[in-house]
Amino acid sequence: MFEKFHPAKLDPILSLSKLFQADQRNKKIDLGIGVYKNDIGVTPIMSSVKKAEARLLSEQSSKAYVSLAGAELFRDQMRNLVLGDSVAPERVATLQTPGGTGAIRQIFEAMKILNPGCTIWISDPSWPSHMGMATHMGFKTQAYPYFDNETKLVDVEAMMASFRDIKQGDLLLLHGCCHNPTGANIDFDTWKKITDLVLEKGALPFIDIAYQGFGDGLEEDAAPLRHMASRLPEMFIAASCSKNFGLYRDRVGIAMMISKDSVTADLVQGNLATLNRVNYSFAPDHGAAVVGMILADDELRREWVAELEEMRMAMLAVRSKLADSLRQQCNSDQFDFVANHRGMFSRLGLGPDQVLALREEHGMYIVGDSRINIAGLAGDRHLPFSVAVAKVANVS
Ligand code: LMR
Repeated sequence: MFEKFHPAKLDPILSLSKLFQADQRNKKIDLGIGVYKNDIGVTPIMSSVKKAEARLLSEQSSKAYVSLAGAELFRDQMRNLVLGDSVAPERVATLQTPGGTGAIRQIFEAMKILNPGCTIWISDPSWPSHMGMATHMGFKTQAYPYFDNETKLVDVEAMMASFRDIKQGDLLLLHGCCHNPTGANIDFDTWKKITDLVLEKGALPFIDIAYQGFGDGLEEDAAPLRHMASRLPEMFIAASCSKNFGLYRDRVGIAMMISKDSVTADLVQGNLATLNRVNYSFAPDHGAAVVGMILADDELRREWVAELEEMRMAMLAVRSKLADSLRQQCNSDQFDFVANHRGMFSRLGLGPDQVLALREEHGMYIVGDSRINIAGLAGDRHLPFSVAVAKVANVS
């Protein structure tokens, strides 16, 4: 029976890592998968994380199961980190999940129960797994216009026009900050208009926030979703600790559902825990215990905030150096937008042949849609990259 499977489709991001590893060239540069890298190209373990892990190792006295919904300390701290005081805590049900992806899955699972016939609205483009997971689970999907390839900004007009067709009970998936893959973000005024619109339509916003602290700052990045939370009776949030705590492989995430009142939130809380039980039982503990400890401890938290800010500033510095050197190499301002984008990614607007030439002729690995991981260009790697881009774009 097993031969019934179709050959697996290659993941556009993960398959690139394999090609990169197989490349023998010394000067190759990996700008594919979204992991932070320092000047020497290493993805470091944050010092606050190391300290919390050491403390955990010495203090932890049992590996018995924690609660089905996950550790309370982690869930409370994360609710505060993401939502601040925008909504009464008793209206928020929370679920610890294996990574932010696990949170997305559990929110889709909840929608399977609440409104299986809904359409899930996903930005075009988006992180490929959004569409992949939604269609795998049998949902109807609708891609909405997002990125203007000319201006490299959000095409607000086209996006808002398409939202006119949203129906009551549909799920509108929005990136909380640091849009992946484009790096172009919705401005605050437009967030307010979207909030009005979902209220009017009776649709459900679902905010995926995987890069809080990588854009304009921890509080600033959460501001749009906090605005929504303060105004809407119901909404979904998936948050990831992969990037801002550097806990990629430990799989730390959280799903949140904001309800109209605390009685409904209790009902939701029980159902979320059941979703963990029927899918994989308990979420992994270690990384979430580390996050909970860091956020609850003044000293560790201060250190983590400073480390996160350092990463954010380093990526901003790369952005402006890259924009400068691309301007010089290409003798054009066509790539100036990378300085204004935010987060880990920008989409350069190169065609498939240019992406291939970057890889094959220059050992520069970028995703097929021309998304680059900005952090991969630290340590002056933006210089050879700009030279290569100018060559493949035929402008040098
Ligand atoms: C990315 O977009 O590169 C990251 O979110 C990693 C992943 O799982 O795709």
